[in-house]
Formats: sequence, C-alpha cells, structure tokens
Amino acid sequence: MSQDETTTDAPAGRAPSRRALLGWGGAGLALGAVAAGGTAAALRTGSDAQPAGADATSGSAVPFHGRHQAGIATAVQDRLHFASFDVTTDDRDELIALLKDWTKAAARMTAGDAVGGGAVGGPAEAPPDDTGEALGLPPSRLTLTFGVGPTLFEKDGKDRFGLKKRRPEALIDLPKFSGDNLDSTRSGGDLCVQACADDPQVAVHAIRNLARIGFGKIAIRWSQLGFGKTSSTTPDAQTPRNMMGFKDGTHNIAGTDNAALDQHVWVGEKDAKGDERWMAGGSYLVARRIRMHIETWDRTSLKEQEDVFGRDKAEGAPVGRKHERDTPHLKSMLPTAHVRLAHPDSNGGVRILRRGYSFTDGTDGLGRLDAGLFFLAYQRDVRHGFVPLQQKLAANDALNEYIQHVGSAVFAIPPGVRGADDWWGRELFA
Ligand code: HEM
Repeated sequence: MSQDETTTDAPAGRAPSRRALLGWGGAGLALGAVAAGGTAAALRTGSDAQPAGADATSGSAVPFHGRHQAGIATAVQDRLHFASFDVTTDDRDELIALLKDWTKAAARMTAGDAVGGGAVGGPAEAPPDDTGEALGLPPSRLTLTFGVGPTLFEKDGKDRFGLKKRRPEALIDLPKFSGDNLDSTRSGGDLCVQACADDPQVAVHAIRNLARIGFGKIAIRWSQLGFGKTSSTTPDAQTPRNMMGFKDGTHNIAGTDNAALDQHVWVGEKDAKGDERWMAGGSYLVARRIRMHIETWDRTSLKEQEDVFGRDKAEGAPVGRKHERDTPHLKSMLPTAHVRLAHPDSNGGVRILRRGYSFTDGTDGLGRLDAGLFFLAYQRDVRHGFVPLQQKLAANDALNEYIQHVGSAVFAIPPGVRGADDWWGRELFA
C-alpha cells in the first residue's frame, strides 16, 4: 500500500496515533514544556516559529515545514540515527513516488504521529503501516534531514535519473586526505537521512520506517548511531563533552545567529544559479566516521591532552585564558594544536556548523573500544569549508596521533519542505 493511501489521519476505528496515545499525559508534558521553556511555538508542526536555538525541551515537536530543513540550525538533540541509502530502482517515477511517501511519513513522525494507518487497529491480516516501537512516546524533538549524494546524479558514468546536469558544482567528490583509512562499506551513498531526537528509540523508529517504506526501491548502505552530542548550536547551554573528555562545540555557529548561518551554512539565491536553483536555501553536509584510539589517549598525560586541543580539560578555556568563552590567543597554543589550526583566524574566516555525535560500537575484537566521533558538518560550500580545513588538519593536527578517519560521505541538503503539497527534492526533479 502506498503512502498516498496511508498517510491521511486514521479513519474512525483505525489506529490511534502516537499523539492520541499520549492523551492527557502527553498534553501535560507539553504544557509543562511551554511553562518551562516559554516556547509555545515549539510544540506543534506547521510553522517556522520555533527559534532554532530555543530551549531544547524534551518531548516537544520541531516544525517540519520551513524555508530550511530542520536538524541543521535546530538546537542539537541528544541522539542520532544517521542512514545512507543506495537507490536500487532505475525508475525515476518510482524514486519520485518514494520521496513523496517519505516526506509524508517524515511530517507525521516528526509531529509525533505514527506512519500511515498506524501500528495497531488496522486489518488483522496485513502488517501494520507503522512498526510500533514509538507508540506512546512524545515527538522527542525528532528532526529528519534529507540529502542527496553525488552518485544520485551519476554513477559509473551513467546519468541514472536524468539529473546529471543538476549536480551542483559544490557537491564534489571529496579528495583523499592524508591519513584517511576509509572503509567503502561505511562511505558514500545516493541518499541520506539524519534522524536526531532526544529519545534514541524515536530516532531509530524513524529510520527503520523510512527504510521499510522504501523496500524494493532503496537499501540501507550504512548507518550510524550516535549516543551523545559533541557539538552545540546553543551557546547559552552547557557545552557537551566528547569521548576524549573535552568540551566540544564551544566555538560553533549558533542556531540563532542568522547572519553567520547565511554567510557560512545556507546556500544563497546567488549561489544557486541555473540548473542549481533547486539548492537555494539548502546546505552541504560532510559526514566522517572518526575512530579514536581511546586506549592510547587514556595513557596520555593531562598536559599533553590539553596541548593537543589548545584548551584546558576542566573549563574548556583557551591556553592562557580563564573561561571557556574567552577569546583565544592562538599564538600561545602549539602550532599543531587542533583549535589553533581550525580557528577561522587561521583559515581566512572559514566557518562550518558542527553537529556531530559520539559513537561506541562495542569492541573491535582486539579488546579495544570501537569508539569515536561521528563528525557532521554543514556548510554553504564544501570547497570553501570542510575541504581546506581538513587539508590543514590532516597535515598538521597533533590530534592525528589519536584518531583515524574511517568513513566519509558528502551530501547536498535541499531546502526545507514548504507545506503539505511539497516533498523532499521536488525542485531537483522539477
Ligand atoms: C575526533 C576528531 C575531533 C575531535 C575530538 C575534535 C574536538 C574539538 C574540540 C575539543 C574543539 C574545541 C572546542 C570547540 O570550539 O568546539 C574543537 C574545535 C574545532 N574543531 Fe574539532 N575535533 C575533531 C575533528 C574536527 C574536524 C575533522 C574538523 C574539520 C575539518 C574540526 C573542526 C573544528 C573547528 C572549526 C573548531 C573550532 C575552532 C575555533 O574556532 O576555535 N574538528 N574540536
């Protein structure tokens, strides 16, 4: 059954939605959130009204529709499930139908509703439309951010969907960086969906249901769970710590800093000319799975750990300064310090919006934690953002002794879905 048939509100006698199952308990939570955060607009979909940096109150819904996709400037949620997909159909119309179905399902799930006719209450003879594990859970600030990879435009020399001329110049194949040890099974992809939520079950449910809707047309190429945010877009909130124990995200682009977002993150009208018009209001995402050699790091002295970053471990203050938010004096740091190398003043003003998560995928068979940072960075143009930064870091960063990049992907992130009739990628296929 297609989503066109299934995504309307459940008819009488059919499945109750996640929202309905929340009942008054859910409403109470939501009202509490308003009182605590003062962000009534954060509670329901359908508007752009939630300030990106608004109080990250768990439970509430982040609006799905808007000029930009949610999940970029949105205050970073606690959990991640990121999925990269291969498109397995060759049929352009089938792909378009899938993207329409995905968009409807995404709008429902981010609002806290079940997919289609729901998980229960439908015909006993058929599998339910929704897998059910998010029944009774609040929206949990779920955002679903959709992107397209270079191989959707051309693969093995083939213009698969008549999109080749639409490929933006900024959607480059990333160059090989010094030290890269990339696993092709954890790299690339035709499509991606980044699911962020304050509840891991809600994020996993969303990816699982999108994969299920796409059965026979797409297949998951790789996916990544993230359990702890390592970046913040809300400078007023406490900065999270990464797996190395350091505050991460101190000097990042704030989700409320519209001038910086326009300058460094959103693709502007002027950037998106001719065949690239579909990208106006979008962004570019670089995803890197970065493994940390945790055991080596844990045997390193505190002094050396602090020198590696150029910030102290307790407060996160730059070398020679007292407080986390004090302006760094870059020349006081070692020339190989991560912050000195990555700071905009060392890179002609380059800034990216970091939105990564820590991961720990068990152990690697040698008793070492398979852990690290799933690095996610949004920018207006990869060629002027991640690429020059990573070239510099790969060549000089003291951190390289303790990390290795093992997965990599790049995606064009289209602008936001404007309303109920719009869908992910509509302008790309127009
Ligand atoms: C496992 C790998 C990495 C770790 C553990 C890490 C950790 C950190 C930490 C602790 C900070 C200082 C606090 C802050 O301002 O956020 C920082 C800053 C920064 N990092 Fe990383 N980072 C990693 C990889 C990368 C990569 C691959 C890039 C980009 C190519 C990058 C770009 C930056 C930037 C732009 C800053 C802000 C510098 C400033 O303006 O002061 N990082 N990172």
